[in-house]
Amino acid sequence: MTHIAPSLLAADFLNLSQEVEMVNSSDASFLHLDVMDGVFVPNISFGFPVMDAVARISTKSLDVHLMIVEPQKWVSRVRDTGAEFMNFHWEACTHVHRTVEQIKTAGMKAAVTLCPATPVMLLKDIITELDMVLLMSVNPGFGGQRFIPHTLKKVKELRALIKETGSHALIEVDGGVDLETAPLLVDAGTDILVAGSHVFGSSDPREAISRLHSL
Ligand code: DX5
Ligand code: ZN
Repeated sequence: MTHIAPSLLAADFLNLSQEVEMVNSSDASFLHLDVMDGVFVPNISFGFPVMDAVARISTKSLDVHLMIVEPQKWVSRVRDTGAEFMNFHWEACTHVHRTVEQIKTAGMKAAVTLCPATPVMLLKDIITELDMVLLMSVNPGFGGQRFIPHTLKKVKELRALIKETGSHALIEVDGGVDLETAPLLVDAGTDILVAGSHVFGSSDPREAISRLHSL
C-alpha cells in the first residue's frame, strides 16, 4: 500500500469544498497544497486564505509544498493552518538546517524538496534531521507536465542514503504521477505519491486514488 497525496492544484476551484470532501472520503493519506509565489517558480497559485478554508473541512493531514523564496519567513503562518508537513525547496533557502529546526520547533514535520537538477547527496549531512524528502519529478510550477525518468535513479539513491544513515525520512515524489509511472516509483522505494491531474482529471477521482494506493 502506497500513501497518496492528491494535489489540490488540479482541482475545480469553483467547487473546492466538494473536491476536498472527495479527498476526505478517499484512500488518500494527505492533501497536498502547492503554494507558488511567481518568483521561485514562474506561476502563482494560492495562499493562506485558501489554505485556511481548506484546512477547516479537510479530514486529511495537510502536506504544504512551498514553491516560494525565503520559506523561513512563513513557518509560524504555515503552522497556523494546522499543516502536518511543511515542505520547502533546498534551492530557495540558504540556511536549510536552521529552517528545518524552526519547522520542528513549531510542531510540524520538516520536509526538504529537491528540483530535478539538484543532487540527492546534498542532503547527506541533514538527512537524519528530516521527516520527509520530496523529489520533484517535473520542474516545479505547473501541473500536468511529463514525468522526468531520472527521478527513479534519485529515489534509489535516496533510499540507500536513508538506509545507510538510519534516517526515518519518508520519500515523496511529485509530478507526472500516473498509472504508468507510479509502479516504477513504488518499486524504486517511494513512500508517498503526489498526484494532481491524474486524480482530478479522472472521471472517478476516488477510484483513481484507490488504484494508486493499492500499488
Ligand atoms: C508542481 C506541483 C505539483 C503538481 C503535480 O509544481 O508541485 O504538486 O500539482 O501535478 P501533476 O500530478 O499533474 O503532475
Ligand atoms: Zn507539489
